[in-house]
Amino acid sequence: MRVTFCFGGSILAPEDLDVDCILAIAQTLRALKSQKHDILVVAGGGKPSRKYIEAARKLKASSIHCDLVGIDVTRLNARLLITALGDLAEREPLTTFEAAVRVMLKGKVPVMGGVVPGQTTDAVAAMLASSSRSELLVFFTDVGGVYTVDPKLNPRAKKFKLMTVRELMKLVAGKKMKPGISIVIDPVGAKLIQRTGIRTLVLGKREIKRLPEILRGAKHSGTTIVPG
Ligand code: UTP
Repeated sequence: MRVTFCFGGSILAPEDLDVDCILAIAQTLRALKSQKHDILVVAGGGKPSRKYIEAARKLKASSIHCDLVGIDVTRLNARLLITALGDLAEREPLTTFEAAVRVMLKGKVPVMGGVVPGQTTDAVAAMLASSSRSELLVFFTDVGGVYTVDPKLNPRAKKFKLMTVRELMKLVAGKKMKPGISIVIDPVGAKLIQRTGIRTLVLGKREIKRLPEILRGAKHSGTTIVPG
């Protein structure tokens, strides 16, 4: 199966960098590769990107400049994933979708960070999934799914087991894109998922090791987003 993965910054660098998580991701991706899956990867920025964006804001940077600072941090995280993946990955973070797809077709794993201001890596992952004609898009986040409301702010939040992309759109509609935004899937990414109609999973860190069985159809603890 061809799969695009987005490892959110909230799991790669919730506070400091989580090296054990990066190692676990590399180990699982290696297993998936040996099972002949085609894999494409996007890395998020996490807490470090927010710290850098906050500093840039204090220095009176424009929104575009803040986004560019965020993009640099996502690419730094992409480099760490590349390091952990060793020979399996292309050595540099890819900056265009065409180049990333070429790398995947060569049999290597392309790793991307952010690409342009005005979005997050959620949108990059949706675009990469579409460009590569992936069958599945998988997001990893610290909350492990899509909830009725932000579970970090409201303990009564309920996780969706299954939802349509239309329901996702309703949930994120009206959320304003700003540098360092914290949202399960950003509105640009959600719109792209709707346009491409790709099946999407939102999972938590504990499912990383279970990816081989989840790709074979096993149950998971996250959210499945289906077209419609
Ligand atoms: P992300 O928001 O994608 O990192 O990028 P993240 O921490 O993974 O997000 P979550 O919490 O897991 O969902 C960090 C910042 O980099 C800029 C934005 O400002 C974004 O908030 N960015 C990233 C862009 O401007 N364009 C991109 O293509 C990607």
